Amino acid sequence: MEEEIKNIKLSFDKDLKNTKDVESLEGVRIRYLGRKGLVSGLLGRLSSLDEKTRPRIGKELNLLKTYVQNEFQNRKKILSVSEPGRERVDVTMPGILPQLGHLHPITKTLSEINEIFVSLGFTVAEGPEIETEFYNFEALNIPLEHPSRDAFDTFYIKGNVLLRSHTSTVQIRVMEKTQPPIQSIMPGRVYRPDAVDASHSFMFHQVEGLMVDKLIRFSDLKGTLDLFIKRIFGEKTKTRFRPSFFPFTEPSAEVDISCIICQGRGCRVCSHGGWLEILGAGMVNPRVFEAVGYSPGKFTGFAFGMGVERIAMLKYGIDDIRLFFDNDIRFLKQF
Ligand code: DAH
Repeated sequence: MEEEIKNIKLSFDKDLKNTKDVESLEGVRIRYLGRKGLVSGLLGRLSSLDEKTRPRIGKELNLLKTYVQNEFQNRKKILSVSEPGRERVDVTMPGILPQLGHLHPITKTLSEINEIFVSLGFTVAEGPEIETEFYNFEALNIPLEHPSRDAFDTFYIKGNVLLRSHTSTVQIRVMEKTQPPIQSIMPGRVYRPDAVDASHSFMFHQVEGLMVDKLIRFSDLKGTLDLFIKRIFGEKTKTRFRPSFFPFTEPSAEVDISCIICQGRGCRVCSHGGWLEILGAGMVNPRVFEAVGYSPGKFTGFAFGMGVERIAMLKYGIDDIRLFFDNDIRFLKQF
Protein backbone atom coordinates (compact mmCIF):
# COMPACT_ATOMS: atom_id res chain seq x y z
CA MET A 1 0.00 0.00 0.00
CA GLU A 2 2.94 2.32 0.52
CA GLU A 3 3.59 2.13 -3.20
CA GLU A 4 -0.05 3.01 -3.91
CA ILE A 5 0.08 6.04 -1.59
CA LYS A 6 3.12 7.32 -3.45
CA ASN A 7 1.45 6.80 -6.85
CA ILE A 8 -1.78 8.47 -5.77
CA LYS A 9 0.20 11.46 -4.53
CA LEU A 10 2.07 11.68 -7.85
CA SER A 11 -1.05 11.40 -9.99
CA PHE A 12 -2.86 13.89 -7.74
CA ASP A 13 -0.06 16.42 -8.22
CA LYS A 14 -0.25 15.94 -11.98
CA ASP A 15 -4.06 16.12 -12.15
CA LEU A 16 -4.11 19.22 -9.96
CA LYS A 17 -1.57 20.98 -12.14
CA ASN A 18 -3.71 20.31 -15.20
CA THR A 19 -6.83 21.92 -13.79
CA LYS A 20 -7.68 25.09 -15.70
CA ASP A 21 -10.82 26.24 -13.94
CA VAL A 22 -12.99 25.69 -10.87
CA GLU A 23 -15.06 23.06 -12.70
CA SER A 24 -12.17 20.77 -13.62
CA LEU A 25 -10.88 21.24 -10.08
CA GLU A 26 -14.17 19.92 -8.73
CA GLY A 27 -13.67 16.82 -10.88
CA VAL A 28 -10.28 16.27 -9.25
CA ARG A 29 -11.78 16.71 -5.80
CA ILE A 30 -14.37 14.02 -6.46
CA ARG A 31 -11.73 11.72 -7.95
CA TYR A 32 -9.52 11.87 -4.85
CA LEU A 33 -11.59 13.09 -1.90
CA GLY A 34 -15.08 11.96 -2.91
CA ARG A 35 -16.84 9.20 -1.00
CA LYS A 36 -15.75 6.67 -3.60
CA GLY A 37 -12.52 8.54 -4.32
CA LEU A 38 -9.00 7.18 -4.35
CA VAL A 39 -8.00 8.46 -0.89
CA SER A 40 -11.21 7.22 0.71
CA GLY A 41 -10.72 3.86 -0.99
CA LEU A 42 -7.32 3.43 0.64
CA LEU A 43 -8.67 4.50 4.02
CA GLY A 44 -11.42 1.88 3.72
CA ARG A 45 -8.83 -0.81 3.19
CA LEU A 46 -6.90 0.17 6.34
CA SER A 47 -8.89 -2.23 8.54
CA SER A 48 -7.75 -5.21 6.50
CA LEU A 49 -4.12 -4.58 7.40
CA ASP A 50 -2.38 -6.40 10.24
CA GLU A 51 -1.93 -4.62 13.50
CA LYS A 52 1.77 -4.03 12.99
CA THR A 53 1.62 -2.12 9.75
CA ARG A 54 -1.76 -0.43 10.29
CA PRO A 55 -0.55 2.51 12.47
CA ARG A 56 2.29 3.37 10.08
CA ILE A 57 0.17 3.17 6.92
CA GLY A 58 -2.68 4.95 8.73
CA LYS A 59 -0.39 7.81 9.57
CA GLU A 60 0.86 8.05 6.00
CA LEU A 61 -2.67 7.93 4.68
CA ASN A 62 -3.72 10.77 6.97
CA LEU A 63 -0.75 12.81 5.81
CA LEU A 64 -1.80 12.15 2.22
CA LYS A 65 -5.35 13.23 3.01
CA THR A 66 -4.34 16.56 4.58
CA TYR A 67 -1.86 17.11 1.77
CA VAL A 68 -4.55 16.58 -0.87
CA GLN A 69 -7.02 18.79 1.02
CA ASN A 70 -4.53 21.64 1.45
CA GLU A 71 -3.30 21.53 -2.12
CA PHE A 72 -6.88 21.47 -3.31
CA GLN A 73 -7.76 24.61 -1.33
CA ASN A 74 -4.66 26.45 -2.56
CA ARG A 75 -5.42 25.60 -6.15
CA LYS A 76 -9.03 26.71 -5.69
CA LYS A 77 -7.92 30.14 -4.50
CA ILE A 78 -5.62 30.62 -7.48
CA LEU A 79 -8.21 29.48 -10.02
CA SER A 80 -11.10 31.50 -8.66
CA VAL A 81 -9.07 34.74 -8.61
CA SER A 82 -8.13 34.44 -12.27
CA GLU A 83 -11.58 33.25 -13.29
CA PRO A 84 -12.82 35.59 -16.04
CA GLY A 85 -16.18 37.31 -15.69
CA ARG A 86 -16.20 37.06 -11.97
CA GLU A 87 -15.76 40.45 -10.33
CA ARG A 88 -13.76 40.69 -7.21
CA VAL A 89 -13.82 43.88 -5.16
CA ASP A 90 -11.01 44.60 -2.79
CA VAL A 91 -12.73 46.88 -0.30
CA THR A 92 -9.41 47.76 1.30
CA MET A 93 -8.09 49.45 -1.88
CA PRO A 94 -7.92 53.27 -1.76
CA GLY A 95 -10.76 54.79 -3.81
CA ILE A 96 -10.41 56.64 -7.11
CA LEU A 97 -11.60 60.24 -6.71
CA PRO A 98 -13.97 61.27 -9.49
CA GLN A 99 -12.63 64.28 -11.40
CA LEU A 100 -14.67 67.36 -10.59
CA GLY A 101 -15.44 69.68 -13.47
CA HIS A 102 -15.92 73.41 -13.17
CA LEU A 103 -17.27 76.34 -15.12
CA HIS A 104 -15.62 77.40 -18.38
CA PRO A 105 -13.72 80.72 -18.08
CA ILE A 106 -16.18 82.33 -20.53
CA THR A 107 -19.15 81.15 -18.47
CA LYS A 108 -17.44 82.47 -15.34
CA THR A 109 -16.76 85.86 -16.89
CA LEU A 110 -20.32 86.01 -18.21
CA SER A 111 -21.82 85.34 -14.80
CA GLU A 112 -19.53 87.93 -13.24
CA ILE A 113 -20.73 90.52 -15.79
CA ASN A 114 -24.35 89.48 -15.21
CA GLU A 115 -24.01 89.72 -11.44
CA ILE A 116 -22.62 93.26 -11.56
CA PHE A 117 -25.44 94.53 -13.77
CA VAL A 118 -28.13 92.62 -11.89
CA SER A 119 -26.89 94.29 -8.69
CA LEU A 120 -27.53 97.63 -10.42
CA GLY A 121 -31.12 96.69 -11.21
CA PHE A 122 -30.69 95.35 -14.77
CA THR A 123 -32.69 92.33 -15.91
CA VAL A 124 -31.22 89.67 -18.21
CA ALA A 125 -32.86 89.08 -21.62
CA GLU A 126 -32.01 86.71 -24.43
CA GLY A 127 -32.78 86.52 -28.14
CA PRO A 128 -32.35 84.05 -31.03
CA GLU A 129 -28.99 83.41 -32.69
CA ILE A 130 -30.66 82.95 -36.08
CA GLU A 131 -32.07 86.32 -37.06
CA THR A 132 -33.46 88.30 -39.95
CA GLU A 133 -31.84 91.30 -41.60
CA PHE A 134 -34.50 93.46 -39.99
CA TYR A 135 -33.28 92.78 -36.43
CA ASN A 136 -29.58 92.60 -37.29
CA PHE A 137 -29.50 95.71 -39.52
CA GLU A 138 -32.61 97.64 -40.54
CA ALA A 139 -34.15 98.27 -37.14
CA LEU A 140 -30.70 99.28 -35.88
CA ASN A 141 -30.43 101.97 -38.56
CA ILE A 142 -27.67 100.11 -40.41
CA PRO A 143 -28.05 101.25 -44.05
CA LEU A 144 -27.96 98.91 -47.05
CA GLU A 145 -24.56 100.17 -48.17
CA HIS A 146 -22.97 99.48 -44.78
CA PRO A 147 -20.03 97.01 -45.11
CA SER A 148 -21.31 94.78 -42.26
CA ARG A 149 -24.27 93.83 -44.46
CA ASP A 150 -21.91 92.30 -47.01
CA ALA A 151 -21.92 88.50 -47.33
CA PHE A 152 -18.21 88.56 -46.48
CA ASP A 153 -18.98 90.13 -43.11
CA THR A 154 -22.03 88.10 -42.15
CA PHE A 155 -23.09 84.44 -42.23
CA TYR A 156 -26.20 84.39 -44.38
CA ILE A 157 -28.34 81.26 -44.17
CA LYS A 158 -30.94 81.90 -46.85
CA GLY A 159 -32.33 85.13 -48.29
CA ASN A 160 -32.61 87.62 -45.44
CA VAL A 161 -31.99 85.03 -42.69
CA LEU A 162 -28.58 85.09 -41.01
CA LEU A 163 -26.56 84.25 -37.90
CA ARG A 164 -26.64 87.42 -35.81
CA SER A 165 -23.37 89.37 -35.99
CA HIS A 166 -24.04 91.20 -32.71
CA THR A 167 -26.36 91.08 -29.70
CA SER A 168 -27.76 94.53 -30.56
CA THR A 169 -30.58 92.54 -32.22
CA VAL A 170 -31.96 91.78 -28.76
CA GLN A 171 -32.34 95.52 -28.02
CA ILE A 172 -34.96 95.59 -30.76
CA ARG A 173 -36.71 92.44 -29.54
CA VAL A 174 -36.87 93.75 -25.96
CA MET A 175 -38.20 97.18 -27.00
CA GLU A 176 -40.79 95.64 -29.33
CA LYS A 177 -42.21 93.73 -26.40
CA THR A 178 -41.92 96.29 -23.59
CA GLN A 179 -42.57 99.94 -22.96
CA PRO A 180 -39.95 101.89 -20.96
CA PRO A 181 -38.61 101.99 -18.34
CA ILE A 182 -36.21 99.34 -19.66
CA GLN A 183 -33.01 98.35 -17.93
CA SER A 184 -31.65 95.11 -19.42
CA ILE A 185 -28.49 93.31 -20.37
CA MET A 186 -28.53 90.79 -23.20
CA PRO A 187 -25.76 88.19 -23.28
CA GLY A 188 -25.26 85.69 -26.08
CA ARG A 189 -23.25 84.19 -28.95
CA VAL A 190 -22.55 86.08 -32.14
CA TYR A 191 -21.05 84.98 -35.46
CA ARG A 192 -18.76 86.56 -38.03
CA PRO A 193 -16.96 84.88 -40.96
CA ASP A 194 -13.56 86.09 -39.76
CA ALA A 195 -10.39 84.11 -40.41
CA VAL A 196 -9.48 82.51 -37.09
CA ASP A 197 -6.31 83.78 -35.43
CA ALA A 198 -5.07 84.76 -31.95
CA SER A 199 -7.62 87.58 -31.69
CA HIS A 200 -10.41 86.47 -34.06
CA SER A 201 -12.98 83.71 -33.85
CA PHE A 202 -15.97 83.01 -36.13
CA MET A 203 -18.06 82.71 -32.96
CA PHE A 204 -17.73 84.70 -29.76
CA HIS A 205 -19.85 86.16 -26.96
CA GLN A 206 -21.18 89.63 -26.37
CA VAL A 207 -23.14 91.35 -23.66
CA GLU A 208 -25.44 94.11 -24.81
CA GLY A 209 -26.81 96.73 -22.43
CA LEU A 210 -29.88 98.95 -22.77
CA MET A 211 -31.47 101.53 -20.52
CA VAL A 212 -34.48 103.52 -21.74
CA ASP A 213 -36.68 105.94 -19.84
CA LYS A 214 -37.91 109.51 -19.96
CA LEU A 215 -34.73 111.23 -18.84
CA ILE A 216 -31.71 109.01 -19.43
CA ARG A 217 -28.56 111.06 -20.04
CA PHE A 218 -25.03 110.41 -21.26
CA SER A 219 -23.84 110.89 -17.68
CA ASP A 220 -25.96 107.84 -16.68
CA LEU A 221 -24.09 105.81 -19.30
CA LYS A 222 -20.73 107.08 -18.06
CA GLY A 223 -21.55 106.39 -14.41
CA THR A 224 -22.89 102.90 -15.14
CA LEU A 225 -19.94 101.82 -17.28
CA ASP A 226 -17.35 103.39 -14.97
CA LEU A 227 -18.81 101.47 -12.03
CA PHE A 228 -18.98 98.24 -14.05
CA ILE A 229 -15.36 98.55 -15.18
CA LYS A 230 -14.12 99.23 -11.65
CA ARG A 231 -16.00 96.19 -10.35
CA ILE A 232 -14.76 93.80 -13.00
CA PHE A 233 -11.16 95.04 -13.43
CA GLY A 234 -10.49 96.56 -10.03
CA GLU A 235 -11.13 99.89 -8.28
CA LYS A 236 -7.98 101.54 -9.67
CA THR A 237 -9.01 101.07 -13.31
CA LYS A 238 -9.64 104.34 -15.15
CA THR A 239 -12.22 104.79 -17.93
CA ARG A 240 -11.92 106.90 -21.07
CA PHE A 241 -14.70 107.71 -23.54
CA ARG A 242 -13.60 108.47 -27.12
CA PRO A 243 -16.03 109.87 -29.72
CA SER A 244 -16.93 107.21 -32.29
CA PHE A 245 -19.67 106.17 -34.66
CA PHE A 246 -22.35 103.47 -34.59
CA PRO A 247 -25.51 103.78 -36.71
CA PHE A 248 -27.76 102.81 -33.76
CA THR A 249 -26.39 105.37 -31.30
CA GLU A 250 -25.94 109.13 -31.45
CA PRO A 251 -23.65 110.32 -30.02
CA SER A 252 -21.46 107.21 -29.92
CA ALA A 253 -18.32 106.41 -28.00
CA GLU A 254 -15.67 103.81 -27.73
CA VAL A 255 -14.71 103.09 -24.16
CA ASP A 256 -11.15 102.39 -23.08
CA ILE A 257 -9.76 101.25 -19.75
CA SER A 258 -6.35 102.10 -18.36
CA CYS A 259 -4.10 99.13 -19.22
CA ILE A 260 -4.49 96.55 -16.47
CA ILE A 261 -1.09 95.03 -17.24
CA CYS A 262 1.01 98.21 -16.85
CA GLN A 263 -1.52 100.47 -15.04
CA GLY A 264 -1.36 102.93 -17.93
CA ARG A 265 2.42 103.36 -18.09
CA GLY A 266 2.62 101.70 -21.51
CA CYS A 267 3.52 98.13 -22.40
CA ARG A 268 3.33 95.57 -25.20
CA VAL A 269 -0.31 94.65 -24.45
CA CYS A 270 -1.57 98.25 -24.80
CA SER A 271 0.86 99.00 -27.69
CA HIS A 272 2.56 101.47 -25.34
CA GLY A 273 -0.49 103.75 -25.32
CA GLY A 274 -1.56 102.96 -21.76
CA TRP A 275 -5.22 102.32 -22.80
CA LEU A 276 -7.18 99.26 -23.95
CA GLU A 277 -10.38 99.46 -25.97
CA ILE A 278 -13.07 97.49 -24.24
CA LEU A 279 -16.54 98.31 -25.58
CA GLY A 280 -18.80 100.44 -27.76
CA ALA A 281 -21.61 102.59 -26.41
CA GLY A 282 -23.80 105.61 -26.99
CA MET A 283 -27.21 107.24 -26.71
CA VAL A 284 -29.91 105.27 -28.55
CA ASN A 285 -30.52 106.81 -31.98
CA PRO A 286 -34.11 108.16 -32.29
CA ARG A 287 -34.40 106.16 -35.52
CA VAL A 288 -34.12 102.96 -33.47
CA PHE A 289 -37.00 104.11 -31.23
CA GLU A 290 -38.93 104.82 -34.40
CA ALA A 291 -38.27 101.28 -35.71
CA VAL A 292 -39.75 99.69 -32.57
CA GLY A 293 -42.77 102.02 -32.61
CA TYR A 294 -42.04 104.28 -29.63
CA SER A 295 -43.64 107.74 -29.80
CA PRO A 296 -41.09 110.21 -31.16
CA GLY A 297 -39.38 112.42 -28.60
CA LYS A 298 -40.87 110.61 -25.63
CA PHE A 299 -37.84 108.58 -24.47
CA THR A 300 -34.07 108.72 -24.29
CA GLY A 301 -31.71 105.87 -23.55
CA PHE A 302 -28.21 104.50 -23.63
CA ALA A 303 -26.83 101.27 -25.08
CA PHE A 304 -23.53 99.47 -24.99
CA GLY A 305 -21.99 96.26 -26.30
CA MET A 306 -18.91 94.39 -25.13
CA GLY A 307 -17.00 91.24 -26.12
CA VAL A 308 -16.86 88.66 -23.34
CA GLU A 309 -13.73 86.89 -24.67
CA ARG A 310 -11.86 90.20 -24.75
CA ILE A 311 -12.76 90.88 -21.12
CA ALA A 312 -11.81 87.35 -20.04
CA MET A 313 -8.50 87.57 -21.94
CA LEU A 314 -7.59 90.83 -20.18
CA LYS A 315 -8.77 89.64 -16.78
CA TYR A 316 -6.88 86.34 -16.90
CA GLY A 317 -3.96 87.40 -19.10
CA ILE A 318 -4.80 85.05 -21.99
CA ASP A 319 -3.12 85.95 -25.27
CA ASP A 320 -4.96 83.67 -27.73
CA ILE A 321 -8.76 83.54 -28.15
CA ARG A 322 -8.54 80.02 -29.66
CA LEU A 323 -7.60 78.61 -26.26
CA PHE A 324 -11.19 79.11 -25.08
CA PHE A 325 -12.56 76.75 -27.72
CA ASP A 326 -9.86 74.06 -28.03
CA ASN A 327 -11.24 72.07 -25.09
CA ASP A 328 -7.71 71.44 -23.84
CA ILE A 329 -8.18 70.32 -20.26
CA ARG A 330 -4.68 71.61 -19.30
CA PHE A 331 -5.80 75.14 -20.22
CA LEU A 332 -9.30 74.92 -18.73
CA LYS A 333 -8.08 73.45 -15.43
CA GLN A 334 -6.39 76.74 -14.53
CA PHE A 335 -9.57 78.75 -13.96
N1 DAH B 1 -22.97 96.03 -31.83
C1 DAH B 1 -21.65 96.58 -31.77
C2 DAH B 1 -20.64 95.57 -32.33
O1 DAH B 1 -20.92 94.41 -32.40
C3 DAH B 1 -21.27 96.90 -30.35
C4 DAH B 1 -22.06 98.05 -29.81
C5 DAH B 1 -21.60 99.35 -29.95
C6 DAH B 1 -23.27 97.85 -29.18
C7 DAH B 1 -22.30 100.42 -29.45
C8 DAH B 1 -23.99 98.93 -28.68
C9 DAH B 1 -23.49 100.23 -28.83
O2 DAH B 1 -25.15 98.78 -28.06
O3 DAH B 1 -24.20 101.26 -28.34
O4 DAH B 1 -19.58 95.97 -32.74
